[in-house]
Amino acid sequence: MRTAVDVGCGYGRDVMWLARQGVEAWGLDFIARAFKRPAKRAERQGLPASFMWANLTELRSVMVTGALLARQPGPRVVLARHVADATDATGRAHLLRLARMVAGRSGRLYLQVQIARTPGEGERGVKVLDVDDLLAQVADLGGRVLERHDLADDEGGDAPDSSSAPTICRLVITWNP
Ligand SMILES: C[S@@+](CC[C@H](N)C(=O)[O-])C[C@H]1O[C@@H](n2cnc3c(N)ncnc32)[C@H](O)[C@@H]1O
Repeated sequence: MRTAVDVGCGYGRDVMWLARQGVEAWGLDFIARAFKRPAKRAERQGLPASFMWANLTELRSVMVTGALLARQPGPRVVLARHVADATDATGRAHLLRLARMVAGRSGRLYLQVQIARTPGEGERGVKVLDVDDLLAQVADLGGRVLERHDLADDEGGDAPDSSSAPTICRLVITWNP
C-alpha cells in the first residue's frame, strides 16, 4: 500500500497513525473542523497526512474527490469504519463508487459496519445495517468480497473465543475481477 484514504476520518487518528508509519494518508470528512488540528500537526511535523472536506451525499463532491485521489501513488486502500452506517442510502452508494474509483483494480476497500446493537450501548451515531443489502450494492458495482468477519465488538471486536453475538462486520472488498 502506498496511499491510504480514510473516508469519514473524524478526528483523523487513524490518518495520523498511518502517516507515522510512512504511508501517504488522506482523511476525508464532511465536518472539516474535526480534522483542523491534526492537519496543522501533520504540517508542523512534516507527516504525509492530508485532510480534505468531502460530502458522501453530494455526487459532485464524490466525483471530484475520487478523481483527485485516483491520481495518488498506488496501490491505494480505502478505509471506512462506521461511515456506511453513519450516512444514508445515497451516501452508502457514493461511498462504494468513491472506493471503486480510488482503489482501482490493485487496491482494496476495508469496511466496518454495525450489524446489531451492542448490548448496553447507545446508538453512537451509527445505524444497524443489513449486510446483505450492502453486499448486493457491492456486487452491483462489480465488487467482490475477499474477506468477511462478523465479530462481537467486546474486547476490541476480535476476541476469537467471544461468546457474544456478532455486532460488527468487517469486509475486505476488491474491484479486481
Ligand atoms: C461514527 S463516525 C466514525 C469515525 C471514524 N471513522 C471512526 O471509526 O472513529 C462517522 C464519521 O463519518 C462522517 N460522515 C458521516 N456522514 C458523512 C458524509 N455524508 N460525508 C462525509 N463524512 C461523513 C462523520 O462526520 C464522522 O466523522
